[in-house]
Amino acid sequence: MIPMAILFSGEGTNLQALIDAVHQRRIYAEIRCVISNKPQAHGLDRARAAGIETLVIGDTDRTAREEKTLAALQEHNVELVCLAGYMRVLSEIIVGPYLGRILNIHPSLLPAYRGANTHRRVLEAGEKHHGCSVHFVTVDLDEGPLIIQASVPVHLDDTERALALRVLEQEHLILPLAVQWYCDGLLHMQDGAVYLRGERLDEPLIYEAGP
Ligand code: GRF
Repeated sequence: MIPMAILFSGEGTNLQALIDAVHQRRIYAEIRCVISNKPQAHGLDRARAAGIETLVIGDTDRTAREEKTLAALQEHNVELVCLAGYMRVLSEIIVGPYLGRILNIHPSLLPAYRGANTHRRVLEAGEKHHGCSVHFVTVDLDEGPLIIQASVPVHLDDTERALALRVLEQEHLILPLAVQWYCDGLLHMQDGAVYLRGERLDEPLIYEAGP
């Protein structure tokens, strides 16, 4: 059983999707703790309701925040770190010791639209498609090797909220799937590349909803 920690900053619906997947035994992991940089994050209530230890590490100084976060991860013998809506960029302090063991969900079809406010930027650009990506985390923001993506259509009358919700639905499917692959020993990062079942993925898998 893989000891896992989940880092987040807000509502925590991706966190909830992971909690549910672990509870339903789809993910063979134990969530040792969740860590938020925001004391008011609703995800903290979700974790408490599931009986999971919660930590708030919100130092504005990045080095202090990351050193405390690393200490908490090591204290809980965490192997896999999931960033589920964690709005802070990780530096070498955490990525160094955890390279190849940090997964992130990003609300765009990377490498397009790295960074924040992806839904608004996609609407402003008049894109026809949008989506989300799960990747291994490196020190370069949203640049890590891609694992899996899901695409959604952009409707002409889409508001930012409507588009965000459509993407979020897909996030809740692909993040637990990638975590499941990792916990089943099927997913690895090696020399900057992604391997699934021993096969190198030069392109991310595209998630297709089941029949
Ligand atoms: C998600 O869209 C995630 O991709 C982005 O922030 C949002 C977090 O949503 N980084 P939630 O907190 O998981 O509901």
